[in-house]
Amino acid sequence: MIPIKTPQEIESMRATCRLAARTLRMIEAHIRVGVTTLALNDLCHDFILAHGALPSPLNYKGFPKSICTSVNHQVCHGIPGDRVLRDGDIINIDITTHLDGFHGDTSRTFIVGMPGPKAEKIVAVARECLAVGIEAVVPGGYVGDIGAVVEAHALKNRCSVVREYCGHGIGRQFHEEPAVLHYGLPGTGPELRPGMIFTIEPMINLGKAAIRHLPDRWTVVTRDHSLSAQFEHTILVTDTGREVLTAPELLGD
Ligand code: MF3
Ligand code: CO
Ligand code: CO
Repeated sequence: MIPIKTPQEIESMRATCRLAARTLRMIEAHIRVGVTTLALNDLCHDFILAHGALPSPLNYKGFPKSICTSVNHQVCHGIPGDRVLRDGDIINIDITTHLDGFHGDTSRTFIVGMPGPKAEKIVAVARECLAVGIEAVVPGGYVGDIGAVVEAHALKNRCSVVREYCGHGIGRQFHEEPAVLHYGLPGTGPELRPGMIFTIEPMINLGKAAIRHLPDRWTVVTRDHSLSAQFEHTILVTDTGREVLTAPELLGD
């Protein structure tokens, strides 16, 4: 069963998603050559606590830090540490907040210093893949419509879609139904209904789709070491379309 959120639950989701978006905007100013991923983690951790929330990743299934930082060929779930960002790196920062019992989840990939052409391409294609996925969210449509347009956009640009990780329903649980695959066929899967809330978060590789895990058992990397980028928003299905709950445009400041 896919939860349909009540108006009150939707208000709570707006608040936690706004905080997640605000945290991501805060950290953007600190991303530069020479900074460590741990320093970025600590700034986000403190910001989230100062706003009365907890970072959902911390201790989630044993994850040791408060955000995920995934650099270059790291696909997702990178663990913040003493790695120093260098000129031309790309870094995905994935923020999930737990505020008043509800989770909000959003990520973006940033380019550090001077972008190279490969970095620019994969970041642009990943951003566009999320955008086309969001546009496919309409009541009466299907979850499979989202994956179909995301995959088509990636393939059109000769990039590939990671298949092992997907978007997810979100609310009182970090990960709920439905699973939102970033590939597949239109008209398949559950029907989209007003009040559903889920993430779309395609992981797009410049090379092949295959991934493996680093020995830390969390960090996911591309097998062929090609660059990987990801963007994520939390989306509410509305009567007429969708509301992007983690859109920075909604911050109003
Ligand atoms: N925020 C990630 C997602 O988009 C999940 C991170 S789980 C963690 O679903 F344990 F790695 F933090
Ligand atoms: Co997510
Ligand atoms: Co996330």
